[in-house]
Amino acid sequence: MCGIFGYVGRDQGTADIVLRALKKLEYRGYDSWGIAVGHGDQVVVQKQTGKIGEAAVDLPASGIGLGHTRWATHGGVTTYNAHPHLDCSRRLALVHNGIVSNYRELREPLARAGHRFLSETDTEVIAHLLEECLAATPAGPDRLATATMTAFRRLQGLNAIAVLDVHTGQLAAAKSGSPLVLGWSEHGHMLASDYSALLEHTRRVTFVEDRQAVVLCGDTIRLFDADSGREVAPRIIEVEWEAAATELSGYPDFMTKEIHEQPAVLRRIAGGWEGHARQLAALIHEARDVFAVGCGTAGHAALAAQYLLARVAGRRVTVASGSEFPYLGDFVGDRALMIALSQSGETIDVIEAARAGRERGARIAALVNVEGSSLWRMADLAVPLGAGPERCVLATKSFTAKLAILLMTAHALAGRADAGVALVRDAADEIERLLTDGRRDAIRQIAEALHRREHLFVIGRGPSYPMALEAALKVKEVSYIHAEGFAGGDLKHGVIALIEPGTPCLVLAPRDETYDDIMSGALQVKARGGVLIGVSPEPHEAFDYHIPVADLGPATAIVNAPPAQILGYYLALLRGHDPDKPRNLAKSVTVK
Ligand code: F6R
Repeated sequence: MCGIFGYVGRDQGTADIVLRALKKLEYRGYDSWGIAVGHGDQVVVQKQTGKIGEAAVDLPASGIGLGHTRWATHGGVTTYNAHPHLDCSRRLALVHNGIVSNYRELREPLARAGHRFLSETDTEVIAHLLEECLAATPAGPDRLATATMTAFRRLQGLNAIAVLDVHTGQLAAAKSGSPLVLGWSEHGHMLASDYSALLEHTRRVTFVEDRQAVVLCGDTIRLFDADSGREVAPRIIEVEWEAAATELSGYPDFMTKEIHEQPAVLRRIAGGWEGHARQLAALIHEARDVFAVGCGTAGHAALAAQYLLARVAGRRVTVASGSEFPYLGDFVGDRALMIALSQSGETIDVIEAARAGRERGARIAALVNVEGSSLWRMADLAVPLGAGPERCVLATKSFTAKLAILLMTAHALAGRADAGVALVRDAADEIERLLTDGRRDAIRQIAEALHRREHLFVIGRGPSYPMALEAALKVKEVSYIHAEGFAGGDLKHGVIALIEPGTPCLVLAPRDETYDDIMSGALQVKARGGVLIGVSPEPHEAFDYHIPVADLGPATAIVNAPPAQILGYYLALLRGHDPDKPRNLAKSVTVK
């Protein structure tokens, strides 16, 4: 959460470089944004609340600057609370991603010493603390590095900080928990919360590890162990994503683009991921206990893994949300395997769950979209999702990619790897047809009929149950319609009390062994006046609306995901919401 970016180099158009980078990082938070550049012996700042949109910068030419896009934690969404924050002399500008849990204790003595605070944030405390540390550090080439490390060591919590010092013409940064990546380009050096913001300039990057600090100037980047102050050699690697993959490429928004990329992603997985699936299957085979963790949509993929591995390969998996896993961790012993699922690879709850599992002897297999991310680096086996950059805050293609890999893994484990590959190909074909044969328009018409409703329920049974949870999440997070997913059988144990005449209910009814029972639940809803939207291969007289989706056996879960993605999308548009940046959300959840 929160995106940070800094640049130092030969290009004097730093403000525009930073603005373009913040647009790439905006999915990390869009409550406010701000940019600072060095100008003479002071920093000059522009800050604003709200999304960046078409904003232009009005800042002087400079070869050094940094910026921030905020997801508010401490202090409301105001211009004062927007980053960067400055020290008293305007020599330093500081941006921050994370939470300084001891900021109150740090702030008091600073205030008593005469530092003036203009915001309610924990971040501003760091700027003044650093000002003190700089004053106490002897002059010399490493002064900013030393002072930054001294200040950083006094911060508690999971944080990434970056500071611009106009006097030395350097940027310094340090991190624990929150991500930070360095970029090495021809015209200068940069740092960012993730490398999608660097790709315009370079694919040569260095991932900063926890408790490392860094100093950047136009000529070089120096890396340090933040606790000992010892210099360490940076490891440069080349990342695979192309800058073009982060652009809209003619689509109206990233949600549409990413929904439409699903067939290609699934084909890529079918064509090239058999080796990954076999490796993961081998780890599952060797493990005594298998756990799957993820949050939100990735958590639904973890639940889908439970059904897939049980039904295709007869293997038991224990599932927990990343944030709940530590409370169940007592059951993890040696020869356990944790499958950690995450698009970003930076979700703190999943990373901490994996760490907790590892401490108890578990091996970690991570299914991650952002290669090189924290979860990726800590895993014993890192399986890429191969979905390419996902910039809409909602997870779409990364979800179906996870399902495809899990499906292939389950089949590899059952000794039927070819069947898994064929099913993923079939799923790709069916989703492509769904997106092009008029069904998308039919879903838009359903959205038109439903967009003024305040509630929507989704029911599914067996392998369709995780899909019901995911469908409801897609609808609610983007349209703000209250949507809940349920196991079809649970309906009559309480939920049915919420059904009133006109209440819409999405029914996931593949022609599998769940069909008769889910339809019986659907009819109970219908009998109470509910409006049924059937997602099913065939129509049913009880359906008020029907979205035909092919039956693909264990791959049906994959093809049942896009209808709800499309429904949520159109509901959002009809209700006047931005599908790429739903309110209050951020794509990479790096705080607890
Ligand atoms: C929903 C969504 C979130 C994420 C969750 C985990 O559309 O995007 O629920 O799935 O925040 O994120 P990752 O997968 O990055 O760990």
